[in-house]
Amino acid sequence: MTQDYVKIFDTTLRDGEQAPGFSMTAGQKLRMAEKIAAMGADIIEAGFAAASPGDFDAIKGIAEHIDSAVICSLSRCNDGDIHASGKAIAPAKKQRIHTFIATSPLHREFKLKMDKNEIIDRAIKGITLALEYTDDVEFSAEDAIRTERDYLAEVVEAAIEAGATTINIPDTVGYTTPEEIQDLFEFLSGLKGAKDITLSTHCHNDLGLAVANSLAALRGGARQIEGALNGIGERAGNSAIEEVIMALKTRQDFFNATMNIKTEQIYAASKLLSTITGNPVPRNKAIVGKNAFAHESGIHQHGVLANRETYEIMKPEDIGISEENIILGKHSGRAALKSRAEKLGFTLQDNQLQSVFVEFKKLADEKREVFDSDLEALILGEAIGSQGPWTLESLYVSAGSDENRRPEATVKLAHEDGRIEQAVVEAAGPVNAAFIAISDITKTPLHLESFTVQSVSEGRDAMAEAAVRVSTEFETYQGFGTSTDTVLAGAKAYLDVINRIERRAVRQKSISAQH
Ligand code: KIV
Ligand code: ZN
Repeated sequence: MTQDYVKIFDTTLRDGEQAPGFSMTAGQKLRMAEKIAAMGADIIEAGFAAASPGDFDAIKGIAEHIDSAVICSLSRCNDGDIHASGKAIAPAKKQRIHTFIATSPLHREFKLKMDKNEIIDRAIKGITLALEYTDDVEFSAEDAIRTERDYLAEVVEAAIEAGATTINIPDTVGYTTPEEIQDLFEFLSGLKGAKDITLSTHCHNDLGLAVANSLAALRGGARQIEGALNGIGERAGNSAIEEVIMALKTRQDFFNATMNIKTEQIYAASKLLSTITGNPVPRNKAIVGKNAFAHESGIHQHGVLANRETYEIMKPEDIGISEENIILGKHSGRAALKSRAEKLGFTLQDNQLQSVFVEFKKLADEKREVFDSDLEALILGEAIGSQGPWTLESLYVSAGSDENRRPEATVKLAHEDGRIEQAVVEAAGPVNAAFIAISDITKTPLHLESFTVQSVSEGRDAMAEAAVRVSTEFETYQGFGTSTDTVLAGAKAYLDVINRIERRAVRQKSISAQH
């Protein structure tokens, strides 16, 4: 039986990034785009060019650097948006404009205040203008799932006739079910011109059905699946693209579909995303959660030792989790470090290798054996650690109980503008004192919502990974920090949050200066 090729359309940097708490800078988006390209995604939706000058620049930067994937920008069906997308993707070797308009009765009446014909007219005009920039044009009928079938068919046929090469059928509010969406795609596959274009599915996860619905759409005739790493996206998120990919790979016998994905890149891509955005992946998350390949119970361990397939339908190494766990030590050199990092899915440029190597040597001195998970934490720490504007110069704390003394923290911070400031604070505990000292120096009081520390590898001297979540008046921020010292890891995570807040304020200032 011949196998059909399924295009993987990654919208981590557009639908994913637009969700509250997931915003990224242009530099972070480029770094993520490189990882998504290395994973082999066919199309990278890099952003929504007209949304902000920052988003425009981020798309352009990605378009300039990435050749292997099609680079796509989203636009509403209006001239301004489409011109912005056309210009942002212009440097890309392979370009796509994605244009959309809502079609469901609710959106027509309450959001757009347009009748059915006006919407079709706008769609045709949008597609026609987009074709002036590129012959790869995707059209989406927003809220397609809640659109009357006969009208949706009219919209789809008009969009095909206007020249769209991909027609996307979003389940914008995560409302559909697998049976329903499969049936819809079977119906759409029979429309005039449908055989000459690619039908695409884009599912949201409001009822927890996004991945199941995407796979059912494929069974019905979709040949492009849209989704985001770690399932991030509006509200409950998009289809988790790593789950879609591993379902297609693991159940190839059932889905009979091929892809161009290097699945060994998945774990590193997922980790990088959670570090950059400061949103940890839940332990029990399918495919990329810490527990996804852990076997705790005796019965399971016994089975896996006898034959892994008793409880494992995928191998950890399929997604890039190394089983070898080669241990590096203080005598290991740059070449060994670089090659180990590559095995873990991280390609280190020369300057990154240098800074990771310096940190690695310090760690190897503190801890005799550096495990893969320690190394991974170091590399990801480097990814966020160099983001400034504040860096932690030194931290010293005292702890314990003594009726004459309270725990104390002495913190010294450096700002990229050259300032070096120090604060000494007493508080109920050393972590609390360190956080207050950082807030005092940076003049950023924060309401701490949660603070968690976990070890990333074995042993009492294991690296600790700290996560801090805080709320300001406008936003919730998460920060990460790693160290063999838990207080230091916490302080780094807290400072990471402050850096995110300060960088965002600077970005917003520059956006309002441009308007
Ligand atoms: O969910 C949705 O409808 C979308 C479209 C813009 C494709 O993200
Ligand atoms: Zn969406």
